[in-house]
This record gives sequence, structure tokens and C-alpha cells, in this order.
Amino acid sequence: MKKYITTPIYYVNDVPHIGHAYTTVAADVLARYYKSKGEDVFFLTGTDEHGAKIAEAACRAGKSPQEYVDELAPQFEKAWKALGIESSQFFRTTNPKHEEIVKSFVKNLAEKGFIEKRKYEGLYCVGCEKYLTESDLVDGKCPDHKKEPVKQSEENYFFLLSKFQDRLIEIIKNDQLLISPKYRKNEILGKLAQGLEDVSISRENVEWGIGFPGDESQTIYVWVDALINYYSATKIYEVESWENHPADIHLMAKDILWFHAVIWPAMLLALDLPLPKQVFAHGFFTIAGVKMSKTIGNVLDPNKLVQKFGADAVRYALLREFPFGEDGDISEEKIERRYSKELAGGLGNLISRVSAMVEKYFDGKVPEVTKDPETHPLRLSNEIYNWKQTYSDFDKAIVDLKLYDCTIAIEKLVNSANKYIEDKKPWVLANVDKDELAWAIYGLCDAIVQIAWLVNPILPNISVKIAEAFKVEGLLKENPNIEESYSNIKAGTIIVKPNQLFPRLED
Ligand code: MSP
Repeated sequence: MKKYITTPIYYVNDVPHIGHAYTTVAADVLARYYKSKGEDVFFLTGTDEHGAKIAEAACRAGKSPQEYVDELAPQFEKAWKALGIESSQFFRTTNPKHEEIVKSFVKNLAEKGFIEKRKYEGLYCVGCEKYLTESDLVDGKCPDHKKEPVKQSEENYFFLLSKFQDRLIEIIKNDQLLISPKYRKNEILGKLAQGLEDVSISRENVEWGIGFPGDESQTIYVWVDALINYYSATKIYEVESWENHPADIHLMAKDILWFHAVIWPAMLLALDLPLPKQVFAHGFFTIAGVKMSKTIGNVLDPNKLVQKFGADAVRYALLREFPFGEDGDISEEKIERRYSKELAGGLGNLISRVSAMVEKYFDGKVPEVTKDPETHPLRLSNEIYNWKQTYSDFDKAIVDLKLYDCTIAIEKLVNSANKYIEDKKPWVLANVDKDELAWAIYGLCDAIVQIAWLVNPILPNISVKIAEAFKVEGLLKENPNIEESYSNIKAGTIIVKPNQLFPRLED
């Protein structure tokens, strides 16, 4: 059975920033983890390419909208590649097949009687691509774009969202559509209880969009076009169809939860299509305490961060900084601290110390032991945070989407292995008790093999480097299967000290 995981499709005219990277890294971690569990994963990300904002920017750049988006979409693909993201497909809403599917989706909504033409009058913000209400405005301006919205009146097609209020409340309440974290579910239920208004789903003056079926003078509202990507992708890429297997997890930040938790499910209910299983909204990043914005110029570029710290460290630092779901703060300095402390100082140091000791005391080979490896304290003990415990904590954290807890589990295991070295003092044992020395070093090598497996979804490149050094064959395959991790490291395995995993940072 496929596991279907999505990120939002990002507006193509934005440069990929750390906020987009956060959602995408989280989705990639889940995808890699489930793949390693032998599940067939379909992981979708991509770009949202229609709308007035994009047409205007293309015009300013002296290009056709299509030329413009064709130049921009690869920026996202490139950024995700640099970050080690392995999505199954990169989706673009200008894909002609998507356009056809969106049209027929909307036509079906109309045929089922869920669309009506009405006059609409409102305050339209081009930056948001939506009408704002008076209460949204601050000093008469859009709070996000600092511009006065324009009064517009037009005949629009409306989706009869209000018809779905009761059913949405019911399916969200009983978790048939699981919205998490729980406080977000309650927020949505609170808003739903206040009533639902029908929503306009077409535009008269936006040419750069998908034509409204049966009325080419209008285009389909960009958000409707975008949401349908999750459905059309299953048809375009011929994976199990949405009808048989809807998305398991839609990941996003809280800003667009309403679209995913209310509007999208209502559209699906209208067509008797199955609902996604889970919609998860994480929090928002601020940069060194300040809201990220192009005007302030504090937008963190994932490409630059990857150049400085490497993809794995950026992935780790993003997830490690604050619990997944909450708002939090990030900065280059914070990533640097994680890099030096937990990664270079913790993990890197453990690998280099242990491989050096294997070289020094055992000619580069994993030593023989006389005791049962199962009983090694790094594997099984009450006093030491061992790798069996780490596995169960890690698994639980993934299932509950507590990705921050995954990083904590890894850190605790690495720390306990480093502490074990300090306590055992192999350099003393070397002179007094060769058996005990072999036992200590064997257990450390065994734990490192498990660390290589455990860090794989978050630190895929580092995981492979450790696997090369400690000959973890299963991890060097194209599709590692975690089942292969459960055997003990073999005595006699030749360990090659790896190059520095986390090199000293240049100023
Ligand atoms: N195109 C729509 C989504 C359509 S999905 C059917 C869109 N795109 S966006 O480019 O604005 O991206 C929004 C998403 O980017 C957020 O939900 C989140 O995943 C990510 N983030 C953007 N800024 C962010 C922060 N400051 N912090 C964390 N994530 C943020 O909305």
C-alpha cells in the first residue's frame, strides 16, 4: 500500500526560502523513513504557477507568463535537490494534463449543483490573491502587503461551501479527517461553528489561469486549481488513484490550514471522493526574532545554508530547533551552534573517536567478544539510553509527527555513547583488561551501526558516510530497508576511519 505524503505547492514567483524548506524537509524525512520500513511511498511537492501576481511579475520582466514560470520552477527543484529531498514527482500546475483534470473536477462540481453564479463585491488584494474583509485590514491596508486593497465587483462562480458545515464538523470531530496538532483541530472546529460562507472560485480579470468550464470569460481561482493538484497528480503519474488511496498526510504551515482542512475536504465531499487521512499544520519561523520578509531582507536562503553547513546539518537544525507544530525562531547563528555542538561535537566526535580506537587497539578490525552482544548496555540497559530505546522512541515520534523528538532521540543516544566512552576509559582498559576493552569497543561499533540507520531519514548523506566506514551494506543499497539493521556487527569487520564528517566551518 502506498503512503501518500504531500507538501504545499509553493508559489513559483517566490524564491525558495527556509519556511518552504522546513515543510519539504519534514515531508522528506517521513518519506525516507516509511520507505526504509518497506512501504511504497508517493511523496509530492511542486510549484503553484497561475494567478494575477505571477502574470504581473512576468509582465514586469518582459516575459510571457509561461516563459516566466518555466524559468522559475527549476529554482525550487534545484534547492530541494541541494537539500537532499527525494520527492517522487515535482508537480507544476501549468502541466496541461493538470489543467484538463481541474476543468473536469470543477465541471463535476457544477453538474452536481454545488456551483452558482453570483455578483460579488469586495476588497481585493493582489498580493494575497484574495478578497479581504474590513476586519482583515490594518490602517486600511493589507497587513501582509502593506497596500490598500482595490474595490472590485464581479460576477463570479461560487462554490456552495456552506452546505458542508455540518458534515465537516462531524468528520473533523470524529477524526475521520484528522487535523493535528490537536489545538489546530480545535481552532478549525471553533471557526466552523461560527458558520461557513460560500466562496468565490472564479475570477473575471485574471487571464493567467485555467479557463472556467463553460465560461471562458472567467478563470478558476488559483487556490482551487492548486488544491486539486493532490488529486490530479495521482492521475498524471498513474500511481494508485485518489479514489482508491487519498493522501495520507498533507503537510503545511498554519497559514494555509483552512484551505486544506475545510475548503479542500468540502470539494471532495461534494464529489463523493475520499478525504485525506491527515492534515498537519506546523508553525511559522521567525528569523532571529523577526518575521521573515523580503522587505526586511532577512529571508534565509536554503542554498546558502547548504553551502555553508551541508544539506544534512541544515535538515537536522531545522527540525531540532523547536517542536514541530509550534512557532519558533531560527537564524544562521542557531544553525551554527547545532552544527558545532550536536553534530561536529557529538556525532562527528563519536565516530572519529571510535574508529580511531578500533585502529589503535585492534588493527582496524571490530574485536571478538566472549559475551552475548544482545546484553551489551548500549543495546539493552536501564542506566544507559540505548539504541533499542532510541528505535522505539524514534518510531513513535515519526508516527505522531513529532520530528523534533526524533532529533532528541538521536542526540540522547549519541550522548550516551560518548558518555560510555568517558566512563569506560578504553585508554585505561588497554593496559589492564583487554577483554573489557574489546567489549566496550565492540558495543560502540554496534551502536554506531544503529546510529547510521537511525539518522538516515534526517541525515542521509552522513548516514551513508558512516555506513561506508563501518561497512553497513544494507544502508549502501539504493533503497535501504531497516529490517536489515537488526543483526549485530560482525567481529573482524574492517573499519575505515571516515574523513571528517562535519568539517570546521570557514569564517
Ligand atoms: N501556493 C500556496 C499553497 C497551495 S497548496 C495547494 C502557498 N504557497 S506559498 O509559497 O506561500 O507556501 C506556503 C507554505 O510555505 C506554508 O504553508 C509553509 O509550508 C511554508 N512557509 C512559508 N513561510 C513560512 C514560515 N515563515 N515558516 C514556516 N513555514 C512557512 O501558500
